[in-house]
Amino acid sequence: MKWFYELVYGRFRAPWDIGPRKELVELVESGRIKPCKAIDLGSGTASNVVFLAQRGFDVTGVDFAAAAVELGRKRAAEAGVRADFIRDDLTDLRHVSGTFDLLVDYGTLDDLSPPKRDQYLRSVLPLTHPKSQFVLYCFEWKPRWWERPFFHSFACEPGEIERRFGPHFDIECHSRSVDYSQWPAGQAVYLMTRKGESK
Ligand SMILES: C[S@@+](CC[C@H](N)C(=O)[O-])C[C@H]1O[C@@H](n2cnc3c(N)ncnc32)[C@H](O)[C@@H]1O
Repeated sequence: MKWFYELVYGRFRAPWDIGPRKELVELVESGRIKPCKAIDLGSGTASNVVFLAQRGFDVTGVDFAAAAVELGRKRAAEAGVRADFIRDDLTDLRHVSGTFDLLVDYGTLDDLSPPKRDQYLRSVLPLTHPKSQFVLYCFEWKPRWWERPFFHSFACEPGEIERRFGPHFDIECHSRSVDYSQWPAGQAVYLMTRKGESK
């Protein structure tokens, strides 16, 4: 899929280039998430990176598409904010180090195949510390029979996030909606907190 993202960011305006996501904005504006060291996993159009930087977060965007990193740097410069952008593969991180107080993922995990989702979690867990917060957006609904063959390349099944992340995070489902007259039929937003004692 990397070629797809290179093409979209290099040549078009991505359909998900719609500004910072409502739920993230609400969590920050309500004070549930406070300015801290943050990383956006699959930063794409950098809307969420720019929003967080404008709100005083020390923020890094990571994406495996060179065109996304270039677009992110351009968007941050246009907005007059400081943010770091790193080109790296979230299923095999080599260039990102340290831990972060906040992780954000809008639409990256759900884009991966199940084995790649396992690798993503193994790669991303070391970026957390006890009490790190993680805002995870994913397409999520119970697939219909005709969606089954290719379902896991664009959405998660209900319960999958709890199964994958539950051993490591306390999970709160911030919002979830499913409407089978639409496609994609559903989206869930999770606010997760890394288990363990803070130092
Ligand atoms: C649906 S887009 C969302 C982008 C961004 N979060 C936004 O809201 O604009 C998914 C993003 O994840 C990136 N991505 C997908 N797989 C990746 C991987 N294995 N490592 C790093 N980035 C990845 C893509 O390049 C793309 O920018």
